[in-house]
Amino acid sequence: MSTHGRWTLTRYLIEERRRFPQSSGELNALILDVSLACKAIARIVAYGKLDDAVGLPQPPQSAGAINVQGEEQKPLDVLSNELFMRMNEWNGHLAGMASEEMEAPFQIPESYPRGKYLLVFDPLDGSSNIDVNVSVGSIFSILRAPDDVIASGRDVTEADFLQPGREQVAAGYAIYGPSTQLVLTVGNGVAVFTLHPTLGEFILVADKVRVPEDTKEFAINTSNSRFWEAPIKRYVDECLAGKTGPRGKDFNMRWIASMVAEAHRILMRGGVFMYPRDTKDPSKPGRLRLLYEANPVGMIMEQAGGRASTGRQPILGVMPTSLHQRIGLVFGSKNEVERIERYHAEPAPSVAPAPLFSERSLFRA
Ligand code: F6P
Ligand code: MN
Repeated sequence: MSTHGRWTLTRYLIEERRRFPQSSGELNALILDVSLACKAIARIVAYGKLDDAVGLPQPPQSAGAINVQGEEQKPLDVLSNELFMRMNEWNGHLAGMASEEMEAPFQIPESYPRGKYLLVFDPLDGSSNIDVNVSVGSIFSILRAPDDVIASGRDVTEADFLQPGREQVAAGYAIYGPSTQLVLTVGNGVAVFTLHPTLGEFILVADKVRVPEDTKEFAINTSNSRFWEAPIKRYVDECLAGKTGPRGKDFNMRWIASMVAEAHRILMRGGVFMYPRDTKDPSKPGRLRLLYEANPVGMIMEQAGGRASTGRQPILGVMPTSLHQRIGLVFGSKNEVERIERYHAEPAPSVAPAPLFSERSLFRA
């Protein structure tokens, strides 16, 4: 499909739906409400510290509290969470919601009808970057509610959300950068929309995006290198060894500490992102959250021909065990992710590595 003629998000969704004449249009309506939450968050993020000066709503009292992740909730985290809930609780398409900012699932209030989908989201990812005016984003995942939930309209439980990422019906993220963009998959490739600043519409700027299969760019927080497992150490060492190393080419490194921004760079020009399982804190098997960070980004990557993995298995195949579960995550250019998976699958070398790399390695224990 060409992008000629400037399709809006609404038109894109309607054209997609035409492929499924039986469908009710509820998913489309839900995605439009999610996109409205993202537009509203783009506005509040754009005001930065000016929020009280311009009379925007003040964050509820809980700002400054510690969320379920043990992280400080910033006022914008709380406001973004509120916007997601208020824009989506009323529409009748949802059986329930879950968010990084709420320990338990959110029940659709009794005053509204309940529907067949579950919405899971990280309303403001990378929010520590707000203070320094670096890109942040919102991430969302849409699942079908279990049949008995749909049939009975009962309250949702944590267990209803514990579905592997392969079950996602749609997923995406919004990135609040120099421009606001929405990146979406409904299972037919990945489309990118830019928020038109005066029309207030998301306009299609790229469709069927493909992540290049090869790359010379990697992203990892190297301050954790002493906690990495051997396969990750090996992979990064080999990248750092450059032209004269086993890879035979020089690599470039990036680390924004804002996963949405990182995922977006990789979607547009390739690369590999790693926040692997490490030994830093045995109670946390990885940093990122499976249900509302790894799975939606994993679906976007796979739909764009990239790959997303724990290092040991595809992210989308992982059966979740809890709502806020953390996991090691590697995603991006297919051939690099597959290489990292190979390194995990190979038995650890029993002999000392070649002297070249013993001497040159920056990350040897
Ligand atoms: O929500 C997690 C997150 O903010 C990601 O967006 C980002 O990739 C990561 O944490 C950064 O972690 P660190 O501060 O350890 O580099
Ligand atoms: Mn996050």
